[in-house]
Amino acid sequence: MRSFIEKTAFFGNTSAERLMAEYGSPLYVYNENIIRNNLKTLSGLITKYPYVTNYSMKANSNMTLLKIALEEGINADAMSEGEMRLLLKAGFPSDRIFFVPNNVSADELRFAIENNIMTSLDSIDQLDLYGQLNPGGRCAVRLNPGVGAGHHEKVVTAGKNTKFAITDDQLDELFATAKKHDLTTAGINQHIGSLFMDPEPFLASVRNLINMAVRFDKLDFIDFGGGYGVPYHKVSEDEQPFDFVTFEKKFEQLLDEAVFKLGYTPLFKTEPGRFAFCEGGVLLGRVHAVKNNADKRFAGTDIGMNILARPTLYGSWHDVEVIHDDRVTTDSPEVISVVGNICETGDIIAKERLLPHIETGDIVCVLDAGAYGYAMASNYNCRLRPAEVLITSSGDAKLIRRRDTYDDLFRNLL
Ligand code: LLP
Repeated sequence: MRSFIEKTAFFGNTSAERLMAEYGSPLYVYNENIIRNNLKTLSGLITKYPYVTNYSMKANSNMTLLKIALEEGINADAMSEGEMRLLLKAGFPSDRIFFVPNNVSADELRFAIENNIMTSLDSIDQLDLYGQLNPGGRCAVRLNPGVGAGHHEKVVTAGKNTKFAITDDQLDELFATAKKHDLTTAGINQHIGSLFMDPEPFLASVRNLINMAVRFDKLDFIDFGGGYGVPYHKVSEDEQPFDFVTFEKKFEQLLDEAVFKLGYTPLFKTEPGRFAFCEGGVLLGRVHAVKNNADKRFAGTDIGMNILARPTLYGSWHDVEVIHDDRVTTDSPEVISVVGNICETGDIIAKERLLPHIETGDIVCVLDAGAYGYAMASNYNCRLRPAEVLITSSGDAKLIRRRDTYDDLFRNLL
């Protein structure tokens, strides 16, 4: 595939150099058209039954982007009090927020209860605590369907090797705990893990969750979680996107079976995070040094592992494009590692890649950085987190989060 940023005219009426000059480097840049398209794919996923998409906001919590999701008719799930507060601030009504926490305090649960936010509990202990705080209330429970999937073992969230959810053999205890506090189980949910391109494990988990659902009294909703994959190798290997068309057909067949087995039609939900914003975000950084160390070649940039943690944390691959004199270059490919400015040898964005010739002063553009990019950024090495800019549908650039300042960095120090 040719350059993604050229093909999509990613930077609209402006350019990488102009954006860097105005907003600094490194810089997260989002494209509204791509984002809205992907959100529409998600919101229209199931048409045959009552269906809602919850955007899992841990993937990207920029408020402007949350508002775009809201405009596209999407609901949201939250993992923490901070996420609930941000969703409320962005304008999500409480009945469009689903709190799906793990190991939280009474205070956090109380916040959800006081704000009428539907909450899912993912252990018997947390259900018991919720019941003490909200006797006679309505809640959901997160179940483990026994099948997991994901791009790395660290993000597989169902099956045998995970801290999440309640297993099949605990259902009797679950029912007894709910009864003890007169709780109504209004819904069940699952999330099997993050990033699958092959839908089969997800479909198997849907089947398993439905088999667990029949053991509950009438449920208002069943939420099957997120995980839809994004082709991170689309430029380097022409990797194809997740096939939503085939997926939808197979998924709907299982929902037919669900409605038959249950004898009623609940509201169905899914909970994607990555797919919503991943492709619509890129990360720009400046090359400050190019050098050889023994037989290895390095392009040293200002994109440290604090700015994009995924490659260091999971060994994740992100395609990289090189911009020379404000144009994408494909000249004189050579094997080189793109690294950051953090004091660790693991501070690598792209390891030993065949990339166009890179010179000091060039810009590197890291693709598919819109999900779990800024959201996982930190101030490690006392570095400032970058600004975020949106290329709006009209093609103009709009600042949607300013860059950290040194005052921000030192604010909490006593
Ligand atoms: N629902 C729940 C309960 C979740 O825990 C997650 C993600 C999602 C939905 C959304 O999953 P998605 O559609 O984004 O795959 N930091 C990792 C990904 C961690 C995912 C955590 N949970 C990464 O950068 O790959």
